[in-house]
Amino acid sequence: MTSSDQRIAIVTGAARGIGRGIAERLARDGLAVAVADLDSMREEAESVAQGIEQAGGRSTALTVDVSDPEQVNALVRGTVERFGKLDVFVANAGIARVNPLLDMTLDELDTLVRVNLYGVFNSYQAAARQMIEQGTGGKIIGAASIAAHKGFEMLGGYSVTKWGVRGLTQVAAQEWAKHGITVNAYCPGIVGTAMWELIDEKMTEQSGEERGTALKRFSESIALGRVEEPRDVASFVSYLASRDSDYMTGQSVMIDGGIIY
Ligand code: NAI
Repeated sequence: MTSSDQRIAIVTGAARGIGRGIAERLARDGLAVAVADLDSMREEAESVAQGIEQAGGRSTALTVDVSDPEQVNALVRGTVERFGKLDVFVANAGIARVNPLLDMTLDELDTLVRVNLYGVFNSYQAAARQMIEQGTGGKIIGAASIAAHKGFEMLGGYSVTKWGVRGLTQVAAQEWAKHGITVNAYCPGIVGTAMWELIDEKMTEQSGEERGTALKRFSESIALGRVEEPRDVASFVSYLASRDSDYMTGQSVMIDGGIIY
């Protein structure tokens, strides 16, 4: 494969957790990958990019706050300057907040919406503009969640943003199909990352239970009997990023080990 044949991907929130798993998987699939994350995660992002390069892949670490459209545009520009084009954008960055609805403030809701929903909107828009300008089509992929299909106590604000991602994904798929762009979202269940550590900590703080209890309780509802790992999500995103998924668009698919509600 010459470097001009190589497909180019951006993954946001790729310094750790699911995003890191996706970046490393796409690199193993042969894509060049821009590992994008907050400035505060620069060292971690650089280490992911270096790991990819040491394994023989092409990668770069770039800084972005996805809630700011200008920064997302700059991320796309920086990636195109470095690698020449953009084929795949994985809008993975996200945050969680844990609160009963009656205690939630509009400020908290605003923070969630800015990152999880505006962040995905900014990413979808910047990616589509670049792909349309190139005239190459492409794959746009967003992070939704099991919480985009079912409401969970204390995850109300988070749920709002993830249901929003589902809607946005359907509309973007409709509007950009004529440009050869497919748009799909992945909906993980309970993935053992820093995000779940935070959810467990906050839920058990609220209930007065021992740390780990909330994660354990949720885990017991997983049919496959184990907590999800980033690689479980990454293998599905690998499919969404590949040409094998060319006939699939507008979907927000559960990849959750069969959680029983
Ligand atoms: P994580 O907290 O381990 O990693 C999230 C990454 O996103 C971090 O590196 C963080 O610095 C980055 N990030 C946060 N705000 C950002 C911003 N404004 N701009 C750029 N980067 C930002 O989370 P995890 O578990 O890896 O989650 C990744 C995605 O998957 C999120 O969208 C999350 O909502 C979603 N998800 C996670 C589930 C889980 O069980 N962990 C379940 C369902 C969905």
